[in-house]
Amino acid sequence: MKIFLDTADVDKIRALSATGLVDGITTNPTLIMKAGRDHKQAIIEICKLVKGPVSVEGIGNTAEELVKDAREFAKWAPNIVAKVPMTAEGLKAVRILEKEGIPTNVTLVFSAGQALMVAKAGASYCSPFVGRLDDVSESGMHLIEEILDIYDAYEFETQVIVASVRSPTHVVEAAKMGAHIATVPPEIFEKLFKHPLTDKGIEQFAKDYAAAAKGAKNK
Ligand code: E4P
Repeated sequence: MKIFLDTADVDKIRALSATGLVDGITTNPTLIMKAGRDHKQAIIEICKLVKGPVSVEGIGNTAEELVKDAREFAKWAPNIVAKVPMTAEGLKAVRILEKEGIPTNVTLVFSAGQALMVAKAGASYCSPFVGRLDDVSESGMHLIEEILDIYDAYEFETQVIVASVRSPTHVVEAAKMGAHIATVPPEIFEKLFKHPLTDKGIEQFAKDYAAAAKGAKNK
C-alpha cells in the first residue's frame, strides 16, 4: 500500500520524506493557502523532494478551463498529476488529459456511483473523502469497500486514494481492504510510527542497558 502526504507544507514534506516512506503528495487550494506559499514555487519544490506523483488542483469549472490549468501544471515537473473535481466537466477533462498522457486524480468523490464514472472516464486515481463522509454520519470506509469491489469486478486500472483521512485507524482499515493508496496529513503519518508501549519499552531497555553496563563495571 502506498502512503501519500496530504499537505503543501514543504518543510514537513522534506522532513518526513527523509523516512523513505512517502510515496507521493496530494495538495488542494486549502492546503496551498495554509502553506502560505506561491502555488507554482511550492509545487516545483515539492516535486523535487518527492519523486512519486504530486497532485495539483486548479479551480476551473469547464472541461476547457480544467484542461488548460492541467496542461500548465504538467509543464512544472514530470511527476505532476492533475486533480479535477468530480463533475461531468471534470470527467470530460479526464478523458482529454489521460489521452495526452497527463495523469488525473478525481477529487471530492462521495459515492460509489461517482467512483464508477471516474473509472469509466479512465482516470489514473479516484479520491473518495472518508473523513468528510464520517462528519455527516455516513461511513467513509464503507464507501471504500464498495468502490474496491466495483473496481475489482471490472478490473478497472484506476487506483483508489483514500482521502480526508482523520486517524491511523482509517489507514489501517484502508490497508486491510486493499486500497491502493492513503493520503494522510503529516500528523497522521507521524502517529503511524507511535505506540505508548513502544516508547515505554525503549525507555526501560535504555535504563536496563545502563544498569547492566554499571553492573559489569563493578565486577
Ligand atoms: C485529498 O486529496 C484532499 O486534499 C484531502 O484529503 C481533503 O481532506 P480534508 O477533508 O481533511 O480537507
